[in-house]
Amino acid sequence: MNIDGKTAVITGGASGIGFATARQFASSGANIVIGDIESGPLEQAVSQLRDTGASVIGITCDVSSESDVMSLRDGALDEFGAVHIVFNNAGVGGGSTIGTPKAMWDWVMAVNVDGVVNGINAFMPLLLEQNEGHIISTASLAGLGGVPGMGPYCASKFAVVGICEALYHELQQRESNVGVSVLCPGFVKTRIFEALRNMPDELRELTGTARSDPNAEAGASAVMMGIEPEIVGSAVENAVRSNKFWILTHERSAIRTTEMRAEWMRSGVPTRVNLEKAAKG
Ligand SMILES: NC(=O)c1ccc[n+]([C@@H]2O[C@H](COP(=O)([O-])OP(=O)(O)OC[C@H]3O[C@@H](n4cnc5c(N)ncnc54)[C@H](O)[C@@H]3O)[C@@H](O)[C@H]2O)c1
Repeated sequence: MNIDGKTAVITGGASGIGFATARQFASSGANIVIGDIESGPLEQAVSQLRDTGASVIGITCDVSSESDVMSLRDGALDEFGAVHIVFNNAGVGGGSTIGTPKAMWDWVMAVNVDGVVNGINAFMPLLLEQNEGHIISTASLAGLGGVPGMGPYCASKFAVVGICEALYHELQQRESNVGVSVLCPGFVKTRIFEALRNMPDELRELTGTARSDPNAEAGASAVMMGIEPEIVGSAVENAVRSNKFWILTHERSAIRTTEMRAEWMRSGVPTRVNLEKAAKG
């Protein structure tokens, strides 16, 4: 798909991978709509992109709220008249599999999974109607293999991979021109390990539990050794241009993870998780 003159909606676009992708699409001539829960960084992101001459608006939005995502769609249509690219990217992480309160699991699933479902429900009718467009959702390497210390995050990202694969096959059955991709990065240098900053106030007292997990510390250091978000932004744009389903910024790790799972199933030899190696891709 050509990007120039098209409109891209990006959730979680105020920072990290989302902002890098917004910059990438804007530099290729797309109109940009950023939806994000953090209003300060959102304003900054919009003004930074406007300074480069881009057509961009920002809409405060919690992707776990169906009505917020519907308003995001309406705001995009009011401003630009159509939407062609939807990037369901907003995401959070927190808590290990053992000892994480259910309310924390619910929050991670609500943002990471309901956020994607809300994006599909709000935008897919538009894309199908115009028989043109592309929808990308952010999963993770943690959606291809279990990672210690990341139970809720893994659960949510496996769900995103499953949703995207199912969506791909449904679009094939309909012989639709709408493209779908799933982004499965390894570690990327962003603020993902400060995701608890966006936790609802009523869950704030639980943050101590999540932060004291040594696996979370290891994950945070691996993120700091990760690739730059710009590499991910350009991989997303390439996938839209070439209609590619899997966006694997750490291809060797993604394939190794998947092969090791198959080996575990076949021979009983379990997968080994090496966060440091995964950070290097
Ligand atoms: N950084 C990594 O190593 C890595 C690896 C694999 C996948 N991911 C995924 O990439 C995506 C982007 O994360 P990032 O690494 O850029 O982190 P980030 O924290 O820099 O960016 C996440 C953005 O999402 C926004 N956000 C959080 N909750 C929201 C909500 N409820 N509604 C709307 N916006 C919300 C935040 O305000 C922030 O701008 C996430 O889905 C994350 O799980 C990140």
